[in-house]
Amino acid sequence: MIDTGDSRIELTVEGHLATIRINRPDKLNALDYGMVQALERAALLADGESAVRAVILTGAGEKSFCAGGDIEAWSSWPPEEFAMKWVRLGHRAFDALARLRHPVIAAINGHCLGGGLELAVTADIRIAEEHVKFGQPESGLGIIAGWSGTQRAVRRFGVQTVRRMALAGEIFTTEQALALGLTDKVVAKGESQAAARAMAEQIAARSPQATRLTKLMMNMAEGEEREAAAEALGGFVAAASTDLATGLEAFRNKRKPTF
Ligand code: COA
Repeated sequence: MIDTGDSRIELTVEGHLATIRINRPDKLNALDYGMVQALERAALLADGESAVRAVILTGAGEKSFCAGGDIEAWSSWPPEEFAMKWVRLGHRAFDALARLRHPVIAAINGHCLGGGLELAVTADIRIAEEHVKFGQPESGLGIIAGWSGTQRAVRRFGVQTVRRMALAGEIFTTEQALALGLTDKVVAKGESQAAARAMAEQIAARSPQATRLTKLMMNMAEGEEREAAAEALGGFVAAASTDLATGLEAFRNKRKPTF
C-alpha cells in the first residue's frame, strides 16, 4: 500500500495495475476534505508509476461506490471557503484523475451519487454493478454539482442526461444508465472488480506508449485539456529527437552545441 496521506484513500500497485479505493463504507464512501486531498495525491502518485498501464477506481463495501461529498463537512464552512477551498480542491483532484496518463476504469460497486458520479465521470471506462443508482441530488440540498458535474459530465454524457439528473433530480437505474451512456457495462453484484481487472489486462497487453498518447489526444478532442496536452505532445517529439541529445552533450561539456 502506498501512503496517500489518508488511510481511507488506498493506493496499491501490483505489476501493471494500480488501484485507488475509497474506504469509508460506514459513510457510504462520502468524501471529506482530507480524503479529496488524498485522492489528488493518489492520482499524482499513480501517474508517476511508469510500470502502470491501467488504474482501477473503486469503493469499499457493497453498498456504495461514493455517495458524494461529505454533506456534514459543508456546514462548518463560510461560503467563500466552500467555494475556494472545497470546490477548487475537488477540481484539482478530479482533473488529476481525468488527466492521468494511464487509462482509468471505474468499478462502480454501489451508489454513484453527486460527487460520486463526478468521480466516476473522471474515468475513461465505467463498469457498474446491477444494483447501482446514478444521480445528482445536489440541487435538492440547495447546492450545485460543483466538482465538474455541470462541465465534464456534460461533455462526457451529453447535456440532456445531465439536465434530467441535475435539474429534475432523476435517479437512474443501471439499465437506464447503460442506455444513456453513464456506464459502459453492467455486471452482476460483486463482479465489477473482476470485470475491471479483465478490462485492465486487455489494456495492459497493448502498447502502453500508443495507449497513453491516444488517451491524451482523445482528452484534447473532448476539451478535457488543450494547452498542457499540446505541449506534452511537442515535448515528446522534441525529447525523442537527436537535437536534445546534442544539446545535453554540449551542456555537459560546457561548449556550444552544433545542431
Ligand atoms: N455525506 C455524509 N454522510 C453520508 C453521505 C454523504 N454524502 N451519504 C451517506 N452518508 C452517511 C449517512 O449519514 C449515514 O451515516 P450514519 O450511519 O452515521 O447516520 C451513513 O452514511 C449511511 O447512510 P444512510 O442514509 O443511513 O443509508 P441509506 O441506505 O438509508 O441511504 C442514500 C443511502 C445514498 C440514499 C443516502 O445516504 C443519501 O441520500 N446520501 C446522500 C447522497 C447525496 O445527496 N450526495 C450528494 C452529495 S455531493
